Amino acid sequence: MVNFVKYSKLVKIPAYYKQFYAKFYENEKICRFLDIDKVLYVLSLGLYPKLVKDVVKEISTNSKVLQMGCTFGNQIEAVSEKVGPYGQYTVIDISRKQLARCQNKIVYNKVNFEYYDARRSLNQKFDTVICFLLLHEMPAVSRSKVINNALESIVEGGKVIFIEYNKPSKGNLLWWFIRAFNRLFQPFAEDLWKYNIQKHAIKSKNFSWRRKIYRGGIYQKVVATKLVEPQKNGKNLNFY
Ligand SMILES: C[S@@+](CC[C@H](N)C(=O)[O-])C[C@H]1O[C@@H](n2cnc3c(N)ncnc32)[C@H](O)[C@@H]1O
Repeated sequence: MVNFVKYSKLVKIPAYYKQFYAKFYENEKICRFLDIDKVLYVLSLGLYPKLVKDVVKEISTNSKVLQMGCTFGNQIEAVSEKVGPYGQYTVIDISRKQLARCQNKIVYNKVNFEYYDARRSLNQKFDTVICFLLLHEMPAVSRSKVINNALESIVEGGKVIFIEYNKPSKGNLLWWFIRAFNRLFQPFAEDLWKYNIQKHAIKSKNFSWRRKIYRGGIYQKVVATKLVEPQKNGKNLNFY
């Protein structure tokens, strides 16, 4: 299956990306290395396949899905397979290199890749929006924009799935290692340790929220499901 990238919009590359992430995401050798399943397995302390599986589980076949940011490993393939040939799967990213890398991945179902900034509002509605390890890369103001953009762009009954870092549990022997790694390479990641995604949702009450913490506390999955509003004409209200 040939996938195309839509480059219709102009994207202003964010400062956080230029300063901290471009050196990784624009470097082909590093990206090829990070794209190896075994490497991801080790870097995620064995949790990457579980995180992917838990995202796929939340998605319905034939639905309309948006993903904010390209990823390494088999995450995009796995979601595309679940969405199936009659669904619609769009992945947006601000890096042309990342879009080009992922464009060649998918074998069975078409994926729409688009050069677009997740901080900009989207003019479409989706059944599911995936935000897979993106929030920790950005400073608070951008993060808040992305969270609210994602929540704004789902239909009633639809969900936003956030996979993110979380504060490791006290007994986790890797606590100091993770902390040092973050301070060296991911300066905003530690923010997520005490960051409550739900709290930053402007219309938090319009959603039902659930959260799952993974072994060792290092990762979290937060799912916001948009509540269905009662019909205003009273047809589905049981008043007597
Ligand atoms: C979603 S994260 C995923 C990387 C993660 N570490 C993994 O394990 O796969 C990284 C991607 O998000 C993209 N990105 C960063 N800021 C973005 C933004 N504002 N809008 C869209 N994509 C963005 C980056 O270019 C990069 O391709």
